[in-house]
Amino acid sequence: MTEAKKLFIKTYGCQMNVYDSERMAEAMGADGYTLTDVVEDADMVLLNTCHIREKASEKLFSDLGRLRPLKDAKPDLKIGVAGCVAQAEGAEIQRRMPLVDIVVGPQAYHRLPALARAKGPQVDTEFPAEDKFDHLPERKALRGPTAFLTVQEGCDKFCAFCVVPYTRGAEVSRPVDRILRETRDLVSRGVREVTLLGQNVNGYHGLGEGGSWTLGRLIRALGAVEGLERIRYMTSHPNDMDDDLIAAHGDVPQLMPYLHLPVQSGSDRILKAMNRKHTRDDYFRVIDRIRAVRPDILFSSDFIVGFPGESDADFADTLDLVRRVGFGQSYSFKYSARPGTPAAEKAPVPSEVADSRLQQLQALILEQQRAGQEAMVGREVTVLYEKPGRQPGQMVGKSDHLHAVHVNDATGKVGELAQVRVLASSANSLSAVRIS
Ligand code: 5AD
Ligand code: SF4
Repeated sequence: MTEAKKLFIKTYGCQMNVYDSERMAEAMGADGYTLTDVVEDADMVLLNTCHIREKASEKLFSDLGRLRPLKDAKPDLKIGVAGCVAQAEGAEIQRRMPLVDIVVGPQAYHRLPALARAKGPQVDTEFPAEDKFDHLPERKALRGPTAFLTVQEGCDKFCAFCVVPYTRGAEVSRPVDRILRETRDLVSRGVREVTLLGQNVNGYHGLGEGGSWTLGRLIRALGAVEGLERIRYMTSHPNDMDDDLIAAHGDVPQLMPYLHLPVQSGSDRILKAMNRKHTRDDYFRVIDRIRAVRPDILFSSDFIVGFPGESDADFADTLDLVRRVGFGQSYSFKYSARPGTPAAEKAPVPSEVADSRLQQLQALILEQQRAGQEAMVGREVTVLYEKPGRQPGQMVGKSDHLHAVHVNDATGKVGELAQVRVLASSANSLSAVRIS
């Protein structure tokens, strides 16, 4: 028997990439690779890149530079670049960094073992004609009682700043029966919570009984899966929050009261320039309709500051939107031009102006997050235990509202849903004691 080969994966960016890294680890596992956390031990190193944030390719090239001594010492070491930077830059990566053996785009991960076996440089950034979900592994490795489940990939929205429609391609939805089958399998193996993933997940339109299903309908079917206690989904576009999905927030008890619904800006002028195809009032209306059926829901959002043309008044509109909605949590980014996107052609806002706006927005977001956590103190909440805490007699998990909670509970078990009372709120988590 040959000795197991070792695979080291570095994942940058979003949950979709975390999920994809797991898929790649499983695909390579079938070829005899086991995961390692020690890069020096690896026979193969994969960098799973993200193109959304600033300076993605610079970071990649500097990480690749740092691998050079290892490659010199171990000429058989395979180095692969995956993810959205791989998709966007393709063979250019190997031209600049000949130590890279494999460049593989998100649509081609099922071909990774074959690419790793092949001799010489390999680039595979093809979009498949066949159904790419066919290649998802039958059984993925589990990490505790929560699991991500890809139901949709790609995006047709073409926001003016975003590379996703180019790197991830058009929207494709996974058929209903496969999602249900995988969910039942996950539940039979101890999973209690699934997060349905997709770049534009609420644009879901997978084939099911009687034709194409919406996400709301899929969530109702998942609500009927015995043993599945919690359902979440991300990331959504405000324009795809249809009546049925909104109603599901009111009448599917497993659907958790937390929704990531990016708005990007609070200014109508900037929303238009971003090609978001909705106004700030449209966003307020969607929020109001969801709150009408689920008053305790917490929202989170993404914001971009310093989009080309953003004036002080536009930015003031963003702060105003944040104050009006009141978010449980949010992510804010300084605009950074992505080559190939329409916004990249426009004159940027001065960097210092964007920096100062980012600071103001982040301060407001943090204030709301802290206040939201403080408001939980004294309340009884349900926590799904994900792992033991660092202190003895402590369990760690998430509340329905996605707050991280440390619970004093000497007999708690991973996978349990516990009723706890919140005692205190600290920077990023709540602490609590079990009551039943
Ligand atoms: N510049 C800054 N932030 C961006 N995002 C996407 N593209 C860019 C860009 N070019 C942010 C958006 C998106 C999140 C995942 O990343 O807010 O919702
Ligand atoms: Fe990008 Fe999201 Fe806009 Fe799609 S909806 S183009 S993924 S920002």
